[in-house]
Amino acid sequence: LTNPTSVPWDRLWTNCHIATMASADRSYGLIEDAAVASHAGRIAWVGKRAQLPRTSSKLAAEQIDLRAAWLTPGLIDAHTHLAFAGERSAEFEQRLRGVSYQDILRTGGGILSTVRSVRAASESELTVQTVRRAARLAALGVTTVEIKSGYGMNLEHERKQLRAARAVGEQLSLRVSKTFLGAHAIPPEFSARRADFLDRVTEEILPALASEGLVDAVDAFCEAVAFSSSEVAKLFDAAQALGLRVKLHADQLSDTAGAELAARYHALSADHLEYTGQYGVDCLARAKTVAMLLPAAFYFLRESQPPPVEALRAAGVRIAIASDCNPGTAPVLSPGSVMNMACVQFRLTPCEALAGYTREASHALGLADEIGTIEVGKSADFAIWHCAGPHELSYWIDGSAPIGRVFRGEPDPSGAGIA
Ligand code: NIG
Ligand code: FE
Repeated sequence: LTNPTSVPWDRLWTNCHIATMASADRSYGLIEDAAVASHAGRIAWVGKRAQLPRTSSKLAAEQIDLRAAWLTPGLIDAHTHLAFAGERSAEFEQRLRGVSYQDILRTGGGILSTVRSVRAASESELTVQTVRRAARLAALGVTTVEIKSGYGMNLEHERKQLRAARAVGEQLSLRVSKTFLGAHAIPPEFSARRADFLDRVTEEILPALASEGLVDAVDAFCEAVAFSSSEVAKLFDAAQALGLRVKLHADQLSDTAGAELAARYHALSADHLEYTGQYGVDCLARAKTVAMLLPAAFYFLRESQPPPVEALRAAGVRIAIASDCNPGTAPVLSPGSVMNMACVQFRLTPCEALAGYTREASHALGLADEIGTIEVGKSADFAIWHCAGPHELSYWIDGSAPIGRVFRGEPDPSGAGIA
């Protein structure tokens, strides 16, 4: 160790290969035989090791030899419903006997079954379960996670979910983005009074949670079995009046012009998109709304129509991917498995899949200046891998685990192996 005051950087990682994901030209932004430095939690330098300005011992208080490992940006899981209780394996069995996801919801199960479990859980029980799932994500290389509410459906229980989400960021080395999923389904106590429920959400629940600092963005489920475009528009108007960005579960099970609606509100992302047509794609492109593809839900619901990937590419729409981790349509945490599904089912390339979990996901959270690529000035969030190259991260069906992780410049104490 060198005297920390005499060196410009806190930490210097050398002897690694880096997929910076910084270029938008469908490449990994590779730097072989690289080095990267952090100072005050941010990336202070990145480049070829041979181009370091001085002997490395004079550059950083701490040096880490990565022994030819690969470094990627910390992964970003930008669409999850992590704050849930219970599970829905009996419904999985029902669906395989022929009952549809929509019919299960219409008869009071599905999302509403998880609402009952969440309402029955105490805040500390819900927090323990949410933190446990988030810790698994972290162990698999995630440094930023988005967590939605939507299973509480009243002020008390939506607040409990968002507080559990906030606790994840307090208890783990993870950045958390909290989304109020205000219109997910109609709760039983409002089943005959849809308009009243929406009034309650827009006039009471959203403003209260926003004033408590629990809402970074607002989401809804636009679907025949959930909310119509005009109902979602009412929620989005309320969100925008509070200065909040929106995102939307759009065109997942049918074409409800969800992409178009999301674009009209300049949504951060439009999510799922299996049934989006060319017009919807063009709207997303114009609005610069990110297409958030969720291949695990497509897989688990045994959907047959993939999202319009080729049209999205042709229109220059950013394509992010995420786990959608939830008990009904995507019981999965492994980013590698999700990347694999994106490649196999949606024909993303492994490079697009990794970009979808890093750079493009950062845009979907409105955090592209802060995270998503390995570039000077951004937060020093990395995942460190033993692999043949970054394409291997999409290759294993059950995913890859990193050998280390760095969050805001700090090597993860729980991260095994390297440092
Ligand atoms: O993203 N489609 C709506 N929301 C979730 C599923 C929620 C649930 O079934 O509990 C999704 O797939
Ligand atoms: Fe979802």
